[in-house]
Amino acid sequence: PTVEYGLEAPFSVEYHDSIGSTNARARELATEGEADVAVLADEQTGGRGRLERAWSAPSGGVWVSVLTRPEITPAQAPLYTLAASVAMARAIREAGVDARIKWPNDVVIPVGEDGDYRKLAGILTEMEGETDRVEWIAVGMGINANIDADSLPEGATTIRDEAGDVDRRLFVQRVLEEFDAYRNALESVVPAWRDLALTLGQRVRIDRTAGDIVGEAVDVTDAGALVVATEDGEQTVSAGDCEHLRPV
Ligand code: BTN
Repeated sequence: PTVEYGLEAPFSVEYHDSIGSTNARARELATEGEADVAVLADEQTGGRGRLERAWSAPSGGVWVSVLTRPEITPAQAPLYTLAASVAMARAIREAGVDARIKWPNDVVIPVGEDGDYRKLAGILTEMEGETDRVEWIAVGMGINANIDADSLPEGATTIRDEAGDVDRRLFVQRVLEEFDAYRNALESVVPAWRDLALTLGQRVRIDRTAGDIVGEAVDVTDAGALVVATEDGEQTVSAGDCEHLRPV
């Protein structure tokens, strides 16, 4: 069922009370030639996370996928994902929560001094295109908003638990406005991301299929890759190669 959600959003909004996955729906809309649509759901019955993981998405959260057809190369696509993490973190901070970004794109709350965290939001970006041109990109954002944290997997927290419920309509509007602003000013994404980064300055271990890397996270590149100072010198890791990052 598609109803008018009453948002003043920079995208047209397709709202569902319940859907399998908003990303799957965005992909379907992409094959129908649509663009600039935000698919929003109260509940997802088959929410998907990165690396084929399941994503728990009960009623009360903010589950939204934004389908666009930007004039970017696939190499610039990670900036779209970073733009979404900045958008989510800024909107969550407006709700009174000390949200930070764990590279590449998890929005988390720091816990204690040793780099530990609880996860508030994540992003799943999917796209299609040629080597030199993106045809469409669907940025799926999942924010644990008005949900009890104890109904979610270990390690998760929610806006409700940290600061109380948000008005989801206004909240989604802020996320979409911020995302729209950053995707239209891609050069401002990395500086904004740096300001909110939890990972920079941390000693981290990154699991990759090509082997683990341990070192201090010192910066991100213009394309959003992480620069790690290891014993053997600086190494650059792209988001797609990272299976897991943890502070050590
Ligand atoms: C992750 O941290 O692994 C990414 C989680 C992404 C979840 C969002 S919820 C909206 C959109 N639809 C999905 O099925 N997944 C993304």
